[in-house]
Order: sequence, then C-alpha cells, then structure tokens
Amino acid sequence: MSRPSDRVSEPEGMMAAMSEHFDVHGGARLVGEVEVVGAKNSVLKLMAAALLAEGTTTITNCPEILDVPLMADVLRSVGCEVVLDGDTAKITTPSGLSHRADSPAMGKLRASVCVLGPLVGRLKRAVVALPGGDAIGSRPLDMHQNGLRALGATSTIEHGCVVAKADELKGAQIWLDFPSVGATENILMAAVLAEGTTVIDNAAREPEIVDICVMLNEMGANIEGAGTSTLTVHGVSELHPTEHRVIGDRIVGATWAFAAAMTRGDLTVKGVNPHHLDLVLEKLRMAGAEVTTFDDSNLQGFRVLQNDRPKAVDFVTLPYPGFATDLQPFAVALSAVSEGTSMITENVYEARFRFIEEMVRLGADARTDGHHAVVRGVDKLSSAPVWASDIRAGAGLVLAGLCADGITEIWDVFHIDRGYPYFVENLNRLGARVERVIGAVERY
Ligand code: UD1
Repeated sequence: MSRPSDRVSEPEGMMAAMSEHFDVHGGARLVGEVEVVGAKNSVLKLMAAALLAEGTTTITNCPEILDVPLMADVLRSVGCEVVLDGDTAKITTPSGLSHRADSPAMGKLRASVCVLGPLVGRLKRAVVALPGGDAIGSRPLDMHQNGLRALGATSTIEHGCVVAKADELKGAQIWLDFPSVGATENILMAAVLAEGTTVIDNAAREPEIVDICVMLNEMGANIEGAGTSTLTVHGVSELHPTEHRVIGDRIVGATWAFAAAMTRGDLTVKGVNPHHLDLVLEKLRMAGAEVTTFDDSNLQGFRVLQNDRPKAVDFVTLPYPGFATDLQPFAVALSAVSEGTSMITENVYEARFRFIEEMVRLGADARTDGHHAVVRGVDKLSSAPVWASDIRAGAGLVLAGLCADGITEIWDVFHIDRGYPYFVENLNRLGARVERVIGAVERY
C-alpha cells in the first residue's frame, strides 16, 4: 500500500510525531458535551495583526494546537516577543520590526503569509517566504499581490519569497476575482495604514474575516462592511494594541456535529456561534438529525441528536455562507455510512478529493469525476490502515474509523494535532475508544 506521495512536508522538530498513529476502535456512539475553543483560522491572523501596533497585544481563547506556537515563531523571527500561556497569547511588537519573514517557521503553515499585509502596512516593505500548509491543491498568491499593487506597492516572487515595496500606500478600489480569505486579510491589514480609503469588492465574508475586522477596529482602524462582500477601509496613521477574544472554531464545532450524526450519537457542542453553522446544521437536519441551537450572552452552541441511520444528502462547497470546503471530508464520511446516494461537489480546492482514496480503503463506495464525487452509503465501513493528508482529512478518517468494523490505524496524525486541541481526550470522554500509539513502526 502506498502513502499519498504529495503530502505537505512535516513540521521540523516533529519527526518524532511521525511514528505516532491513532488506533480508532469502531462501533462507538458519541454522547455528551464538548467545549469548542478559539478558531485556528482566526487566531493565526489575529496574531499577525498584532504586528500593526507597537506594544503588547493580548489574544485570549487561543486553541492549544501546534499552529499557534509555529505562528509565535514566525512573529519572533521579525522581532516580536511572544508569550503563550494556556489560552492566552501576549505579543509585544517593537518599534524596530524586521521586514524579513523568511525563517524556517514560515514554511510550516499557510497562515504565515498573513504577515505580508501588516509588514507592508507598517514598514512599506516585506520579504516573506512562501508559506507551507495543507496539501489540498494549488494555492497561488496572485490576489494577495495584486491587492498590494493596487495600493501602490511592487510585488514579485524572488528566491522563494514574496518581495513587496512601496514608497507610500494609497487607498484604492480593489476587485477580487474570488472571495479569497487570505487575500482579503492581507489587503485589509495593509490598507488599514494606507492613506485614504480602500474598497475591497468581492471580499470574503467568513466569520474569521469579521473577527479580524472587529480586532482591527478595536486597535483604532476604521473598517466598515465586515461580513458583507464590500469592505471599506478608511486608512489611519497608526494603530494601538488591544485585548481580543478569538471566536469559537466553527470547523471544529461542525466536526463534532458530523461525529454525532455519523455515530448516531447525541452531542451538545458549546463555545461556537450556531449561526456560523446554519447551513451545516440544516444539512444534518435533512440527514435526519434533531438539531437545537442556543445563542444567548452566556451560552452559544447546539445539540445534534441522531437516532436512526443518516439519510443521504448532497453537499456543494463554496465560500461562506456556503458549505465550507474544510468540511468536505466530513460530508464524504457521513455520506459513506448514510442510506442512499450523495453527490458532493468541491468548488474551492480540487485536491481535497484525495481523501476519498483513503475512504475507499475503509470500504466506502465512492468515486470522483472532476470536482464531483458520488458516494453510495454502505451499512458499515471496514477498518484498514489509512493516512491523514491534511488536518480535516485526518479528522474525517477518525470519524470514519468510529463507524468501521475493528481497529482503524490512522497515520500522520501530526496533521490532526495542527487543528484539534485535545481531540483524542475529548473523543474518549464522549464514549469513543481512540489510542495515540507512540513509537510503533508502519507495517504497510
Ligand atoms: C483559508 C483557510 C482554509 C480554507 C480556505 C477556504 C486558513 C489558514 N486557511 O485558506 O482552511 O480551506 O480559507 O475557506 O485560514 N486563490 C487564488 N489566488 C490567491 C488566493 C487564493 O487563486 O491569491 C484561490 C485558492 O487557490 C483557492 C481559493 O482561491 O482555490 C480560496 O482560497 P483562500 O480563500 O485564499 O484560502 P486560504 O486563505 O489560503
């Protein structure tokens, strides 16, 4: 059996983790309550935003995942002091920040590219190593670069780095070809310190974009339209540090929602805004789950109760408020054990269907044609050794393993550790049997 050949390279210093795998015992029904903490795809950008203000910015509700210390290393490499203490990150940004972000830490995660906008905004120049991250398909930076060019910077790729320079940044009208999350964030973070007004049209509308706009405004920026596809940024001369709480991780919350539906379980998920998952929860209702939501000042979350075998539903990935591409592996995994046939369409990252090869190892009846997959539900999956190719594919395999006969070995679990705090501990507390096995040798 072969492993996926074009996986992202594993983070340095984690080679030991390469010999770790999970043994997932099939047949669990997940029941109970689980708390979701801050969103990975928000906290990393908020950490980058701290570069925009001299002084100490405090970010709370940080998830304890590998990507947070990696991002801390990226910020240290440009001169910040970063202290991580439990769920709190304190980032002290000096006046004399370096414009060169080309340390090895840069290549270990995608979000490292989000230092580009703040460095250009603050220093008018940046050399930023091309980022790493999940191997989920082509991830160009053309829209990031075009946005900076519209603001008056030059931007080229030289020796594996994005090099950007400007004499001054001036507000501009920018139309994005696609509502890219990363491009919206980088352009925003450069535009907040540009002279005049910038309008970003076809901007991303993800809740994580709203989160960064809220934090930037707390820092003294003037951004209007967060959560809509037109962002208007009135440039200011400087920003000041703030204290900000990261929004709950909707992708992790949705992972638990799918886990409840797939294992015919009953999970109450707290710490996430249920409206960030409106479409996801509606899909699960269509699959037969009873879903209740709660959203008041004390408690945000939802409950998913699935009594019968899920019914097949179709999924189409799109930018928010569409069904998130990050949840596509869970849609495939749910469809694999549902009654009936599902069509899943991937519109954002073409390589995300690689996950299906691993699902087929587990007995899924699935095939792909271009950016569509047809999945015919089977009564039971069958355990096998499988390899996680990215964070969400890894978590999707864990959910599939819970519905398989026997013990499913999941390898390359460092991917899962990049996005899911205390995943194994939470699964076991909720009724699963999952063991992290350290030091075993791959036999396949
Ligand atoms: C972020 C998330 C990722 C999620 C994705 C889409 C982080 C760290 N990662 O990634 O989990 O799956 O949003 O919701 O937050 N594109 C271009 N040119 C560009 C930029 C993007 O063609 O300059 C394309 C990409 O190839 C992709 C699409 O636009 O097909 C969306 O990418 P984007 O929204 O930028 O994703 P990321 O910000 O990288």
